[in-house]
Amino acid sequence: MKLSVVILAAGQGTRMRSQMPKVLHHLAGRPLLEHVIATAQRLRPTAVHVVYGHGGDQVLRALGHCQVQWVEQRERLGTGHAVAQAMPKVPDDEWVLVLYGDVPLISEATLRALVAGAVAGQASLGLLTAMLEQPKGYGRIVRNDQGQVLRIVEEKDATAEQKRICEVNTGVIVAPAAQLRRWLGALNNDNSQGEYYLTDVIAQAVADQVPVHSVYPARETEFLGVNDKQQLAQLERQYQREQADFLMGQGVTLLDPQRFDVRGELYVGKDVVIDIDVIFEGKVTLGDNVSIGPFCVIRDSVIANGAQIKAYSIIEETHVGERDIIGPYARLRPGTLLASDVHIGNFVELKKTVVDQGSKINHLSYVGDATIGKRVNVGAGTITCNYDGANKHQTVIGDDAFIGSDSQLVAPVTVGAGATIGAGSTISRDAPEGQLTLSRMAQKSVVGWKRPTKKSQ
Ligand code: UD1
Ligand code: CA
Repeated sequence: MKLSVVILAAGQGTRMRSQMPKVLHHLAGRPLLEHVIATAQRLRPTAVHVVYGHGGDQVLRALGHCQVQWVEQRERLGTGHAVAQAMPKVPDDEWVLVLYGDVPLISEATLRALVAGAVAGQASLGLLTAMLEQPKGYGRIVRNDQGQVLRIVEEKDATAEQKRICEVNTGVIVAPAAQLRRWLGALNNDNSQGEYYLTDVIAQAVADQVPVHSVYPARETEFLGVNDKQQLAQLERQYQREQADFLMGQGVTLLDPQRFDVRGELYVGKDVVIDIDVIFEGKVTLGDNVSIGPFCVIRDSVIANGAQIKAYSIIEETHVGERDIIGPYARLRPGTLLASDVHIGNFVELKKTVVDQGSKINHLSYVGDATIGKRVNVGAGTITCNYDGANKHQTVIGDDAFIGSDSQLVAPVTVGAGATIGAGSTISRDAPEGQLTLSRMAQKSVVGWKRPTKKSQ
């Protein structure tokens, strides 16, 4: 069975009150439409067609990299008209699944069940419906006495009696391409909204004696769309709660599943503990026995087994080694590579820096463009002066070196293995291994010196 997916994304989203097209607003750090495209692609379709309209340039700029066919709907004449725009590119022998760019939580499992049900009935039409206590606004599913679907009536076209029907149309349908093409061609806009309704294909299928097969979504919230910022926030929380439940199912301890956000992909080992208000972005991997303190932001990083990240640390494009202790208040910027048993303490910023096993940078330091050996101690307030105003330069520190507090290492510069740098030094030439190097004014004491006293007026 070959499947083509058509995603409707031409809506303006007036109620978002934004200059950005609705489908570009973010859920979990990604545009709404990108979530739907990703779910569609997990079904392994032959093609995904996205029907765009409002703010087309913006949509293409943001999502042009996606492996989809872009179809422009120049006039917004209704959902049936929108699907019809994609049909010239869909071969007759395929099935067409219709999704919506503003319905981001639709799940692969539900779609597979819908498609499988329709395909099993041979030339049938699959319809995703839901039972709602408050069906207002949705199209209603009209069934006969035998419970067979007859048609869908839109809220604005419904009689008072039809409005009492609690089974609603989610909008998601699947149908054989050849028949759908024919049904779409026969639509008219003779209704209260003057639109070509996709929903009118149901009655045509029934007239053609094509069985209509309906399925409920696996979860209640899957078919909810985003029309305003409140709904966007609700779906964001719903999505995050699902991530939290999934991770707790894998054995992760979340101190508060309501205060936790994954904006990307999070992979976890065993016995991971995550405190409150941690944000994960991009692709993050946490090894076994990792603990993450409160209020951390971690993006595109690997945290190896047994590492502890303490409160308020920001970690980006970094590898944290086994048993490392990071923070509180550490900032690890892109290109940081830490071996095992490394300690990075408070108010320490690292960038493009490799730190070998057992080394410590515990207080108030900036180390950038540097390579640090094993068992090195970098004292409080050490700064690599890596930038001369035009170019960046490297600092290399050998194994077992000791950098005294408040030192400046003016790159390019090498500190040899086992070297000691006296506190307060400005090191602008290489420091030989094993020796004490310091650049400090000799200390003197002035005999007989008196403190000034305040003049009396
Ligand atoms: C539609 C269904 C309704 C269903 C509801 C579920 C129709 C006629 N009605 O109603 O039965 O209960 O969804 O939410 O299908 N779109 C385009 N181009 C268009 C028109 C719409 O891309 O020309 C897109 C919109 O951006 C939107 C989606 O299709 O994402 C739904 O369109 P909308 O007009 O909002 O349909 P509803 O009135 O919600
Ligand atoms: Ca409408």
